[in-house]
Amino acid sequence: MFETLPSSKPDAILKLMMAFREDPRDNKLDLGVGVYKDVNGATPVMKAVKSAEGKLLEEQDTKAYVGPLGSPAFNKRMITTVFGDDANTERLRSAQAPGGSGALRVITDLVIGARPEAAIWISDPTWPNHVPLLSAAGATLKTYPYYDADKCEVDFDAMMSGLANAKAGDVVLLHGCCHNPTGADLTQDQWNQVINLLKSKDLLPFVDIAYQGFGDGLEEDAWAVRAMAAVLPEMVVAASCSKNLGLYRERVGAALLLGRNNTEADLALANLQTVIRSNYSMPPDHGAHVVEMVLNNDAFNANWREELEAMRVRMTGLRQGFADALRKRTNSDRFDFIAGQKGMFSRLPLSPEQIESLRANDAIYLVGDGRINVAGLPDDPAAMDSLAESIAAVL
Ligand code: LMR
Repeated sequence: MFETLPSSKPDAILKLMMAFREDPRDNKLDLGVGVYKDVNGATPVMKAVKSAEGKLLEEQDTKAYVGPLGSPAFNKRMITTVFGDDANTERLRSAQAPGGSGALRVITDLVIGARPEAAIWISDPTWPNHVPLLSAAGATLKTYPYYDADKCEVDFDAMMSGLANAKAGDVVLLHGCCHNPTGADLTQDQWNQVINLLKSKDLLPFVDIAYQGFGDGLEEDAWAVRAMAAVLPEMVVAASCSKNLGLYRERVGAALLLGRNNTEADLALANLQTVIRSNYSMPPDHGAHVVEMVLNNDAFNANWREELEAMRVRMTGLRQGFADALRKRTNSDRFDFIAGQKGMFSRLPLSPEQIESLRANDAIYLVGDGRINVAGLPDDPAAMDSLAESIAAVL
């Protein structure tokens, strides 16, 4: 039977991750997969997570099933983390999910169940896995322009013109903050224009917020989601705890639903429960239990926010350091945009040949579209300068 299957390859990001692991060179530099790295290049367990895990190990006295929607306390906390302390809990519901990706999948199933004829509009470019993930659920995908690769900034006019082609009832996938792969986010004024368009054309926002806390701050990064929830009748949000709590391999996320009223929100959640039950039945507990403990314990919570903020500030500093080093080495302002972008990624305007040359000759790994993981940049000014020198050399 298996011989009938087509050949299958991992996606660009996973392929790069594996190639990096197998590279024996001591001087190799990983700017690929979106995993936070500290000053030593490590991805340590966050302190508050470690403390909560210790407490969980001591206190947990059962491994009995939690249920398809996961823990109610986790869900309650995820609603306020994303929508704020004054979130409209009458209209909001949450289901614990296996990572942001699991949330994306079950939300897509739910949306297709409700609106089988709707198209889902994704930004061009977007996280490469959006396409196979949403397609596997049977979604009809359309793209809207998002990025001007020459200017290295959002092409807002093109975005709005593209979205003007969406039909009433269509769904628009938006990156809540820290756009992946470009790092180019909308301004608040642009968000307001998008919200007006969604409202006037009766489009459903489907927000992927995988990097909350990595851009301008934990609360600041949720501004767009909260602005939408304040004026739109319905929305769906896939949130992730992979990055802001460093729980990548534990698979923790939430599928969040905003309904027009309490009754419709309940109906949506009941349907989501059915989708989950027929898919993976129930989400994993460990990581979500740890998140619940971190968010519910004042000391852990404060410690987590502090560590997350330090990570964010470090990435902002690395952006500036990289832009400065490139300015010096290229004798141009071509790379200044890096300093002003948000979150973990930016896209270097390099050709596939230049990217391959950096990998082959300098052991510098970046994704084939030029995406770099800012957290992987070296803190040491001499190493940053040498990286900029290697990039300048391939230009
Ligand atoms: C990334 O974009 O690198 C991360 O979201 C990891 C992944 O699964 O692709």
